Amino acid sequence: MQPKPQIVNLPVYQQGKPVEEVKRELGLDEVIKLASNENPYGASPKAKAAIEQELSQISMYPDGNAVELTEVLAGHLGVNRDQFVFGCGSDEVIALITRAFLLPGEENIMADQTFSVYKSNADIEGAVSIEVPLVEGTHDLDGMLKAVNERTKIIWICNPNNPTGTIVAHTDIVNFLDKVPEHVLVVLDEAYAEFVTDPSYPDSLSLLSKYPNLMILRTFSKIYGLASLRIGYGVGQPSVVRLINQVREPFNTSRLAQAAAKAALTDHEFIDACRTKNRSGVEYLTAEFDRLGLKYFPAHGNFILVNVKKSGREVFQSLLKLGIIIRAGFDKYPEYIRVSVGTPDENTKFIAALEKVLTVQEQPVTAE
Ligand SMILES: Cc1ncc(COP(=O)(O)O)c(C=O)c1O
Repeated sequence: MQPKPQIVNLPVYQQGKPVEEVKRELGLDEVIKLASNENPYGASPKAKAAIEQELSQISMYPDGNAVELTEVLAGHLGVNRDQFVFGCGSDEVIALITRAFLLPGEENIMADQTFSVYKSNADIEGAVSIEVPLVEGTHDLDGMLKAVNERTKIIWICNPNNPTGTIVAHTDIVNFLDKVPEHVLVVLDEAYAEFVTDPSYPDSLSLLSKYPNLMILRTFSKIYGLASLRIGYGVGQPSVVRLINQVREPFNTSRLAQAAAKAALTDHEFIDACRTKNRSGVEYLTAEFDRLGLKYFPAHGNFILVNVKKSGREVFQSLLKLGIIIRAGFDKYPEYIRVSVGTPDENTKFIAALEKVLTVQEQPVTAE
């Protein structure tokens, strides 16, 4: 057998540890997962009711074009119906974009460090990834522009950036888009957009008509609390969206996901409450980090990257033993951990566990 040479040494994606696995392995009754930036308040009751209703249709293939969801979303975002591509999570939309645009040897530009799925998909296509270091945890848009050449096909901007949580502002994105050559697709990944309360955050949808090479990614996995159903989408110019839809599998989003997403969009009260509670969680956690003398990046999403001043992997292991799952092991931030904002109870328990882990005295080394 001869696989594509560029995939032979690719790692398998390491996800946050599932709660059930940790409970089983460590014999714990309570495990708190703050590792995958999910919504700790679950999903809207309206979404759950829509799933129950849709169950009667479970034997039927879904609408491959997600017409009803498209209709609701177009109204919600104020764009046209021919501007959407849906994916099995926005992860799949990222994969579809690389499939549609990248030939082996062509280049794509992303921050270092950012969401790993851009590079892993570019690797699968045999494309070259140019990784531009973050400056103080934030995208270096000028540095990214300097990396553009005639082989560049895509620039990825993760806003808020995962794992740092920082944002680039509307005016900076506009200045950037003004300078990016038209042959380059700019993908603005806004997976955490609905959590952002900072007024400088881009109104990216308003830029779509002026910049035909702009594509925006959103998801129902984060504030909408539907991560297990796997549904996300891209919004862009019809001509670009069409290309991506051409490489999409016919039935890539399920009936249950489409029905839940459609209902979730109508529950503004639930989303507003989640945004407010998330902000209070960020305020609580950052105040606690200040008290503990720990530095962190400005957190605009539902997670915080905090400097624990020792190996993040070790802190991960110690927290795990106390029943708390977080993320660590970021190449560029080996002494940081990333924690998702939980419920007030989860946040308090996390801080108590972190304080315990960080104040444990090193065992004195005794001579044999
Ligand atoms: C920045 C970013 N983009 C995209 C995704 C993918 O989300 P999903 O595939 O669940 O829509 C994630 C998930 O964590 C993310 O952090």
